[in-house]
Amino acid sequence: MNEEHRGRLTRDGIRIHSDADFAGMHKAGELAARILDEIAEHVFVGQSTGEIDRLIEEKVNAAGAKSATIGYKGYRHASCISVNHVVCHGIPGDKKLKDGDILNIDVTVIVDGWFGDTSRMYVAGKLSRKSERLVQVTHDALFKGIEAVKPGNTFGDIGNAIQTFVEGQRMSVVRDFCGHGLGRVFHAPPNVLHYGRKGTGPVLEEGMFFTIEPMVNLGRSETKVLADDWTAVTRDKSLSAQFEHSIGVTADGFEIFTLSPAGRYHPTWG
Ligand code: MF3
Ligand code: CO
Ligand code: CO
Repeated sequence: MNEEHRGRLTRDGIRIHSDADFAGMHKAGELAARILDEIAEHVFVGQSTGEIDRLIEEKVNAAGAKSATIGYKGYRHASCISVNHVVCHGIPGDKKLKDGDILNIDVTVIVDGWFGDTSRMYVAGKLSRKSERLVQVTHDALFKGIEAVKPGNTFGDIGNAIQTFVEGQRMSVVRDFCGHGLGRVFHAPPNVLHYGRKGTGPVLEEGMFFTIEPMVNLGRSETKVLADDWTAVTRDKSLSAQFEHSIGVTADGFEIFTLSPAGRYHPTWG
């Protein structure tokens, strides 16, 4: 690519990044993913989500990085921890995990000014058959979206790939929350919808950075936000799952910045 096109904004306000920027995102993404690897052993029956968050904050600080969520719009924690029917933005606290609880842990770090944003599913105790299916479908849905990432495709192609797959499994895609552009900022254009029609939305170009982070419900897609102004839950109280990666568009596809360094991305890794 012609270097003079780097650093420009597209007509949709999406930033086009340079090779050096990819290296910055790689470092930030790798730290966020490593923290998710390391936190796995701290997820167990009787553990509180507040203690998990405290350990995450400690790991961010030990790495000389910064938490992107502490102080973000008044949020005070280094992670969001969303248990069972909580869709996203669960606030860590004193509540202890019970056998069979499934939870999403979402961590965003800032390394040298670059934001790495990723989340995965975990289980306390034994994973039930129905939770396992939800978690597997949600993980596969994220990768259906990622596989649609290459220059010339559109954001609608990503959303369509996710929605088609999830609904084919008789589950539903949350529409009230979406992925987002990121880079030297936490949330930037575009909104990355996890549903939609092929060929719609902005065209993908080499150098774009964004997250894909589908939330999938076993029941209906509707959500509501609790009185704490953060916690989003399924209206029908059905179980919800989510996985998130930060990715960049390359000349012929994508680079995932937040892959697990240890390959430990599945809740039943033992
Ligand atoms: N990490 C979340 C995302 O994927 C955002 C969390 S914002 C917070 O975009 F304030 F709730 F932490
Ligand atoms: Co995100
Ligand atoms: Co996130």
